[in-house]
Amino acid sequence: NAIDRTQAGAGGCPFHAAQEPPTAPNGCPVSPRAAAFDPFDRPYQLDPAEALRWSREQEPVFYSPKLGYWVVSRYDDIKAIFRDNLTFSPSIALEKITPASREAQTVLQRYDYGMNRTLVNEDEPAHMARRRELLEAFTPEALEAHAPMVRRLVREKLDAIVDRGRADLVAEMFWEVPLTVALHFLGVPEEDMDQLRRFSVAHTLNTWGRPSPEQQVEVAEGVGRFWQYSGQVLKKMQDQPSGHGWMYDMIEKNRQKPEVVTDNYLHSMMMAIIVAAHETTALATANAFRQLLSRPAVWAELCASPALIPAAAEECLRHSGSVVAWRRIATRDVEVGGVSIPEGGKILMVTASANHDPAHFENPDELDIYRDNAVDHLTFGYGSHQCMGKNLGRMEMRIFLEEFTRRLPHLELEEQEFTFLPNTSFRGPEALWVRWDPAQNPERREPAVRSAQRDFPVGAPSRQDIAREMVVAKMQEAAQGVLQVALEDPHGRRVPEWSPGSHIELIVGEYVRKYSLCGEMEDPYWLQIAVLREPQGRGGSAWIHEHLTPGMTLRLRGPKNHFRLDESAEHYVLIAGGIGITPIISMADRLKRLGKSYELHYAGRSRSSMAFIERLDRDHGEALHLYRKDAGKRLDLAGLLAEPGEDTLLYACGPERLLAALQAGTSHWPEGSLHVEHFSAEGALLDPANEHAFEVELADSELIVEVAPDRTLLQALRAAGVDVPSDCEEGLCGSCQVDVVEGEIDHRDKVLTTAERAGQDRLMSCCSRAKGKKLKLAL
Ligand code: HEM
Repeated sequence: NAIDRTQAGAGGCPFHAAQEPPTAPNGCPVSPRAAAFDPFDRPYQLDPAEALRWSREQEPVFYSPKLGYWVVSRYDDIKAIFRDNLTFSPSIALEKITPASREAQTVLQRYDYGMNRTLVNEDEPAHMARRRELLEAFTPEALEAHAPMVRRLVREKLDAIVDRGRADLVAEMFWEVPLTVALHFLGVPEEDMDQLRRFSVAHTLNTWGRPSPEQQVEVAEGVGRFWQYSGQVLKKMQDQPSGHGWMYDMIEKNRQKPEVVTDNYLHSMMMAIIVAAHETTALATANAFRQLLSRPAVWAELCASPALIPAAAEECLRHSGSVVAWRRIATRDVEVGGVSIPEGGKILMVTASANHDPAHFENPDELDIYRDNAVDHLTFGYGSHQCMGKNLGRMEMRIFLEEFTRRLPHLELEEQEFTFLPNTSFRGPEALWVRWDPAQNPERREPAVRSAQRDFPVGAPSRQDIAREMVVAKMQEAAQGVLQVALEDPHGRRVPEWSPGSHIELIVGEYVRKYSLCGEMEDPYWLQIAVLREPQGRGGSAWIHEHLTPGMTLRLRGPKNHFRLDESAEHYVLIAGGIGITPIISMADRLKRLGKSYELHYAGRSRSSMAFIERLDRDHGEALHLYRKDAGKRLDLAGLLAEPGEDTLLYACGPERLLAALQAGTSHWPEGSLHVEHFSAEGALLDPANEHAFEVELADSELIVEVAPDRTLLQALRAAGVDVPSDCEEGLCGSCQVDVVEGEIDHRDKVLTTAERAGQDRLMSCCSRAKGKKLKLAL
C-alpha cells in the first residue's frame, strides 16, 4: 500500500528506486528490471546466468511480480539460504510453479494420485531422520558397485552408433541411459523397466513450466498412470523383499521404522526419484558435451589427458548446470542480502547465476577445466538437502565422457539451433547433433581401444588430477648446478596467469616436485623455473637435470600460490637462502613495480652458485644485499631483526634452518609480520599409532562423522559424501580450511598464524584434528 511504499523508499531499501511502482510484499518498490523479469522469456530460457547478470551486479535480491517469487542471484546469499533450512523451508521445492487447472486436478483424482513429501521437500526433523536412514546406498563403496552397469549401458548405446557418423546424442542415449541407471539403482525388476521408461512423463513441464490447459490435462493423465503403475511395482517389490537396490533399502527401513520411512513416502519416492536421478543427469550430460565440443581445443585436451575428465565434468556442472534454480519458502520475516523478505515469501535461488558470480569464481563466464574451485558450484544444492545422488550423476557423466573421448575423439558438434523446454529450473538442450567420420574411428585400427576403459574414483574430482601439458621451450644454466627451464603452451597459447610467490608442481617420471615461478611476470608465453640439482635429494631434481630436453612435453599442476604477497605494507624485507631466491625475485620485481620500499637479502655459498645475480644487480641493485660464504660475508639475522620495523613485512624462502631461525628471531615482531614458503610438510602427516579417534558434528548437513585414527578428517568427510576442496593435502596450501563452531583443535598445518590458531575457529581438514573427542564444524 501507499504508506508502506513511502516508508520503504525513505527507509533506504538498498536496491530499489522509490518512484517505481508496483511494490513487493514487503512494501519495497519493484525496480523496472525486476518488474520486467519473466523466467519464461527467451533470455532466461537460453542462458539464465547471463539473463541475471544485471541482478548479480546491481540488485541481487528482487521481487518478481510476474512470478510471485523473490529472486536471489548471488553466490553468498544463496549459500546462506541453503544453510538455514529452518528459516528457508524446502517444502515448496516440488510445488507446481503454475497451479494445476481444475480439469487437471480432476484427472489426478481419478487416478487416486497422492504424491506427497519425499526428501527434497521435507522439513526437519522428519527429513534428516529419514535421510540418515537412507544414506548407505550412497557410500563410495556402494556406488562403485554400479560403475560396471553404467559402463555397460553407455557402451551398448555407443556401439549402436559408432559406425554411423551422425547422431542426436540426446535421443540416442543421454536421455535413456540415466533413466535406466536410476531404475537399476532403485532395484526395479528388469521386466518392469520398459513400462516405467514409457511413463517418464513431462514432470519438468508440470512442476517448473507454464503448461497450457491442454498440456496440463495430458500431463495429468501421464502422471496419474505413472502413479498407479509405480504403486504396482512397489507392491511387487514389497512382496519379494530379497532384491537389491535403494528401493529395497527403503522398504526394509519402512518395515523397521514406519514412522520415519512412511508408506506414502515410499510411493512418492518411487516417482520423485525418477525425476531426481533422470532428467538432472541427462541434461547435465548434454550440457557438458555441448560446452566441451563447442571448444575443440578443450575437447582435444580431454582426449589427450583423460585424467582431466572428472574436473571437466565438474566445471561443466558449474558453468552450465542442469538444475539452474531451486526453491525455498521463508518461515519467518527475514533479511537476505539486505532485503527484507516477509514470512511466507517464496524464493527462487538462481544457482546458475551464483555459479557465475565473480565474487566466488575467477573469470566465471569462462569454461576452465583447470579451475580448482569448480566443486564449490551450487548445482547440487548445498547443506542438509544437498543432492544425495551427486556421485552417481558425476559417475555417469564421467563414463560418458571417457567412452566418447577414447572411442570418438574426432567427434564434432554440428551447427544447430538449440532448443530448451521452457521452465524455471531444469536446463539442457532438447537435441544435440554431432558428426564424425567413422573411417577415422581409432578402434578400426586398434580394436583394443574399444575396451581400454579408465575408471575414476567416486566423489568430487581430485585437484591432484588437474594437470596440464606444457613443452620445454628453453633450458640454460642459471648458476652452478641450477638449471633454468622455460615452459610454453603446446598450442602457442598464453600461459595461465600467476602472481609473485606462485609455484607449479612438475610431474616428471615418477616424481612430483614443486618449483616457484621465477620468470618475468609480464611474459605471457613462458612459465620459468630454476631447479637446483640436489645430490642428497630424493631423485626429482636429478631426473630433471639428466632427462629434460628442449621440445619435451611435461605435465604440471598449477600455477598455485600458497605464498601470496600482501601488497598493503609500507616496507618489505625479502630474505632468500640459496635456491630460495626463486619466489623472492618475482616479489622484488613486483614491489619495484609498485614503487614500494624494500630490501633484498640474498645469501649463498659463492657467486657462481647463486642464481640470477646479474638480473638482481640490474633490476634491484640498490635494494640488494649479497652474502657470500666464500667471501666470508654472512647474513646477520640477529642484527637485521633486532628492531621490529614499522608497517614492515618479511618474506623469506630458503633452507628449513634459515626459516626456523627467522621464526625464532621475529618472536618480538607483530603477529603476522613473517611469511615463509615451506616446501615440506613435516608434522602434518598422519601417524595412526599416535592418533585417537574423534567425532565431528556437521552443523549444515546435520551429520555425525567418525574420524578413525588412521584417517584424516578430510578423508572421513569425503567418505560421508561431503565435498571439501583440497589441494596439497599436506597442510601447506590452505584450500581445505573448514570453519569450526565448537571444540578444541589440534592444529598441524603451516598455514595459520599463531593468532589464527588461538582463535580456534578454523582448521585445515587434511591434517589437523580434535584435541578431545569432538568438534563441531560449519559444513
Ligand atoms: C536433491 C541436483 C542427480 C537424488 C537434489 C537437489 C538438487 C539436485 C539441486 C536439491 C538440493 C537442495 O535442496 O539442497 C542434481 C543434479 C544431478 C542430480 C544436478 C545430476 C547431475 C541425482 C541422482 C540421484 C539424485 C543421480 C539418484 C538417486 C537426489 C535426492 C535428493 C536430491 C534423493 C534429495 C536430498 C534431500 O533432500 O535430502 N539434487 N541431482 N540426484 N537428489 Fe539430485
